[in-house]
Amino acid sequence: MKNINPTTTAAWSQLQKHFQEIKHTHLKTLFEEEKNRAEAFSIRWRDFYVDYSKHRIDKETHKLLLDLAQEVDLPAAIKSYFEGDRINETENRAVLHTGLRQPAVAKVMLDGEDVNPEVQEVKQHIERFSRSVISGSHKGYTGKSITDVVNVGIGGSDLGPVMITEALAFYKNHLNIHFVSNVDGDHVQEVLKKLNPETTLFVIVSKTFTTQETLTNANTIREWFVDRLLPQAGVSENSAISRHFAAVSTNVEAIEKFGIDADNVFPMWNWVGGRFSLWSAVGLSIALSVGYENFERLLEGAYDMDRHFRESKLEKNIPVVLALLTVWYNNFFGAETQAIIPYTQYLHRFPAYLQQAIMESNGKHVDRNGKPVDYQTGTVIWGEPGTNSQHAFFQLIHQGTKLIPADFIGFKRPLYLDSGHHDKLMANFFAQTEALMNGKTEEQVSQELKTKGLSEKEIKQLLPFKVFDGNKPTTTVLIDQLTPRSLGSLIAMYEHKIFVEGVIWNIFSYDQWGVELGKQLATKILNDLEQNDFADHDSSTKELLTRYRKR
Ligand code: F6P
Repeated sequence: MKNINPTTTAAWSQLQKHFQEIKHTHLKTLFEEEKNRAEAFSIRWRDFYVDYSKHRIDKETHKLLLDLAQEVDLPAAIKSYFEGDRINETENRAVLHTGLRQPAVAKVMLDGEDVNPEVQEVKQHIERFSRSVISGSHKGYTGKSITDVVNVGIGGSDLGPVMITEALAFYKNHLNIHFVSNVDGDHVQEVLKKLNPETTLFVIVSKTFTTQETLTNANTIREWFVDRLLPQAGVSENSAISRHFAAVSTNVEAIEKFGIDADNVFPMWNWVGGRFSLWSAVGLSIALSVGYENFERLLEGAYDMDRHFRESKLEKNIPVVLALLTVWYNNFFGAETQAIIPYTQYLHRFPAYLQQAIMESNGKHVDRNGKPVDYQTGTVIWGEPGTNSQHAFFQLIHQGTKLIPADFIGFKRPLYLDSGHHDKLMANFFAQTEALMNGKTEEQVSQELKTKGLSEKEIKQLLPFKVFDGNKPTTTVLIDQLTPRSLGSLIAMYEHKIFVEGVIWNIFSYDQWGVELGKQLATKILNDLEQNDFADHDSSTKELLTRYRKR
């Protein structure tokens, strides 16, 4: 991949100049000037319609952003990404989560070797195992079928599975799926109190199998399970554990040490990043929750998007266009955050999932040469489903002082028979992006207040508070229906957007050293708490630790 400071490109300088010309232009003016704007700034792809016409760009912006992508040689970077080059240089790893969703017949090359046969083998294992649990043929140690599954993991070993099992709740089977992630003991206890050990399967998910939170929870769960073993069942502890514990990790040795039966071990690979791992055996709880066929559809949807990203021209390439818009707001308008607003309750964990995927990837302050960047990278991601978010934080987006580009994700058809709700939901969806764009002028407000019978004096007083500037940018992603396949495509769309942003910003998107620091310090403080020795901490931390110790 080329190693280019984006700010040194000709396109960047031209974008800076162009920004000065366009920065005050209102979206309404842009729409007036370009009659075919909706057509020019939208992409139709399968059951996706992506409208980015409500952005503060014109044809020149569009062209210059695409020039920028060419100047940093995005096409060559895309090739490296899919061909298994070690683009995660600081960990000397390839980034091949896309290889997990290739068809069985495809070759997924890594260091001259096809790794797809291994991937397919694990998928077959997921299929066999999930089928036996769902059908009830996998029995617990007292001969009863499994009713509850607990995914024990954190970060990428939790957020993907939990987001998807919630998103695909409509497709769910009879198994109750639970998630334990936080090292907060109250979290695990709250989950355990709902469970019967005889009918529960625990899936321990940790890429490294060294993560403090997950191992602590796994040990607590094992103790809880062993304490409740019924002697009259006449089975050994190991044999009972083998019926109730499975694990997913790259660290197969550590899993075996933990005591999990080799048949219940699902390997993964270090060329799959934690936050992109739901397509691997990390997705076991997804397959258990919605069935293996639906898990396959999810992978197929992601594969569809991979092909779109790999094969489409940059100007009609959804992840590329979305990433360039983020660069435009982040680096030229100085916008710091981006809101993700899905108009479906099923996607209520999607913003949280994207927080890890996007912020852990592109929250970097040095470039690929290890030099501090002199431009902004990363975006703060936040959001909640509409319409709830409209009644919570939309006020600030509409009338606050910050510029917050927002992605609106909506579906044409609901999953249940429509009883009038969906039109109401979608009326809000369309109304918000229109209102964010148009705002409300003084004339409109005063006319409205006049009609309500307010006096001139009252109107004058109220006017400034009721005016909306508008000019707030949004992307609308309109999809036919929320299915495993469309969800797979949607997630992959953001994955590739992350990649493109990282290429433009010339940063390494696939390591996470910032998180490692916190892990090291927590281990040290845990040790200090045990030793009751806080000598080498600053006065604030020392005081806090002392007060905590005295509790
Ligand atoms: O938060 C840092 C991180 O390394 C994530 O990238 C990862 O998803 C998470 O910790 C959990 O790690 P593991 O799967 O190894 O337990």
